[in-house]
Amino acid sequence: MTLIFAHRGSAGTHPENTMTAFNEAARVGADGIETDVQLSKDGEVIIMHDERLDRTTNASGYVKDRTLRELKTCNASFGFKGNWGKEKIPTLEELLLWLNDNHLLCNIELKNTLFLYPGLEEKVIQLVRSYKMEERIILSSFNHYSLVNCHQLAPELETAPLYRDGLYMPWVYAKAIGGSAIHPNIRAAPDIIIQACLSMGLPVRPYTINKPAEMKRLFQLGCSAIITDFPEKAVEIRKGFQMK
Ligand code: G3P
Ligand code: CA
Repeated sequence: MTLIFAHRGSAGTHPENTMTAFNEAARVGADGIETDVQLSKDGEVIIMHDERLDRTTNASGYVKDRTLRELKTCNASFGFKGNWGKEKIPTLEELLLWLNDNHLLCNIELKNTLFLYPGLEEKVIQLVRSYKMEERIILSSFNHYSLVNCHQLAPELETAPLYRDGLYMPWVYAKAIGGSAIHPNIRAAPDIIIQACLSMGLPVRPYTINKPAEMKRLFQLGCSAIITDFPEKAVEIRKGFQMK
């Protein structure tokens, strides 16, 4: 069965990367969530997609220039349509605590391309281990050096390279960097590549799959998982497939 990962929580319907969005993913029956982590000025692992605060919050400037205390005063629902009330920027620790109360999988994307955030890998791994979440976490990043670092630090954790452009024989590449799956942009993952990876035993979890026709195509292909902004829609479409 193709698993459904709710992108940034449930970013199509709820303010991205907030506890409200993660709760929505659980409510609609997603199998997992995808989220993004960075470091605050005082070295706390926090959840936020952009390096800047401007798009999604009522603050501006870089995440890396604010302490956790300052980040906690921001409203993380500010950039989302509708009236949501105040949403705080979650920490990874808060998310892991929440995961304790459910069975969702969690894909943590390390946002360390624009800024490298030295120590991010160690902190994420330490938190995952301290909450004994090793079996439910997948680490991903567009920074593949960082993924190799993660694999060396914590070989028990699954890692998956993110990429946007065509990759030659991704099953060979993933193995070379210690990855146990690939997370391609769907434009870089034609059916033939997905099928080849699956036949080589390499899970494929493309992003961001929001169109029903694309969801159906990937369910039909038996793709390992999809990452979508609309998990409720995806769950509904997948049910239709299971009933046939
Ligand atoms: O992990 C899949 C996807 O989230 C990668 O792109 O920009 O949405 O973080 P982005
Ligand atoms: Ca992401």
